[in-house]
Amino acid sequence: MKIGNLDIGKKLILAPMAEISDSSFRKTAKQFGAGLTFTQMVSASGVINNNFDTLRFLSFSRDEKPIGVQILGNDPAIISEAISEIKKFKPDLIDINCGCSVDKVLRNDMGSYLLTNPALLSQIIKKGAAAAGDIPLSVKLRLGKDRKNINIIENAKIAEDNGASLIAVHCRTSADSYETEPDWSWLRKVKESVNISVVGNGSVFTPRDAFDMIEQTGCDSVMVGRGAIGNPFLFTRYNSACENGEDTGQPDIGIAESVLLKHIELLKNEFGEDIALNKAKKQSIWYLQFYPGINSFLENVFSVRRIEDLNILVADHCKKVKDINSGGDNPAEIYQKFKKRILFWLEEENEKLVAGSTK
Ligand SMILES: Cc1cc2nc3c(=O)[nH]c(=O)nc-3n(C[C@H](O)[C@H](O)[C@H](O)COP(=O)(O)O)c2cc1C
Repeated sequence: MKIGNLDIGKKLILAPMAEISDSSFRKTAKQFGAGLTFTQMVSASGVINNNFDTLRFLSFSRDEKPIGVQILGNDPAIISEAISEIKKFKPDLIDINCGCSVDKVLRNDMGSYLLTNPALLSQIIKKGAAAAGDIPLSVKLRLGKDRKNINIIENAKIAEDNGASLIAVHCRTSADSYETEPDWSWLRKVKESVNISVVGNGSVFTPRDAFDMIEQTGCDSVMVGRGAIGNPFLFTRYNSACENGEDTGQPDIGIAESVLLKHIELLKNEFGEDIALNKAKKQSIWYLQFYPGINSFLENVFSVRRIEDLNILVADHCKKVKDINSGGDNPAEIYQKFKKRILFWLEEENEKLVAGSTK
């Protein structure tokens, strides 16, 4: 898929995810074959006010490229000023968040609120694209406010007419919870209505899901969020299936262990020991949830106080799993619990993000 001068081929894209799409995760996803990654959403006013957290969220290193920076806001002037600042970091893409449906974001008329205000959406994209200049602008949309008010076709056309080079469509409405099945069928209608690239998003957890989405809808590429958490192997598996026709499957626990330990090291370097510890615990759970024995890991992980001890716990746990292949728990059930917990963390972080934007 081409986006301006950028060509990511057939590869999958890592979705922007607050508190999760940090540099360590983006680097890991890229190493395992993601074609493009995004920063989590950063507040447009936080950018122009030099808010420390905002600037940290949008920073990336050269070896992460290609990368998109996603911004959150609702004032066309502030968004275009923020984009002029962000351009100095030389991202490959700048994305406007029109999909976040967290209460605090909606109450501030940001994120998926913009889906309901076509005049404002047009202005934001037009000014944003002008400020972005030769850096392509993308827009991340949902289907609409709720199932009775689906206006994705109108909003996709607004994006195209005002200068966006790409749209990513999360195939749920703002009112839908993650328990509601995404409606991929809208992707085909969007694809038939615009000439810019269309990226599909929503509940892609396996390489087969990604192939199905492309086959059923004709979308140009697929963006993966939750399916990549603790599972950068999804990108390799998909790429291998594209290139050799073979999905290599979930790797054995030895490989997951070494990738996880490297990921923890990246987190320590990115955030420092204190902040990295909690993030590393979450990552450990997310990586190991795919393997037997996760319940016993959960019993021990929360009391760990140092990264060094976490590394030992991970290594001991993986050794036990390898040795006795301990069963007894149900990965599918655990996985559902994790999804809910991820969303709980997201709520907390969005509170901080929106607070950052009003400083
Ligand atoms: C923890 C979490 C954080 C998210 N943060 C963002 C964000 O910062 N910006 C955004 O546009 N979408 C965000 N999303 C939505 C995802 O990008 C994606 O659209 C959604 O999860 C659907 O894709 P999936 O079914 O592959 O997870 C977030 C989702 C999750 C689970």
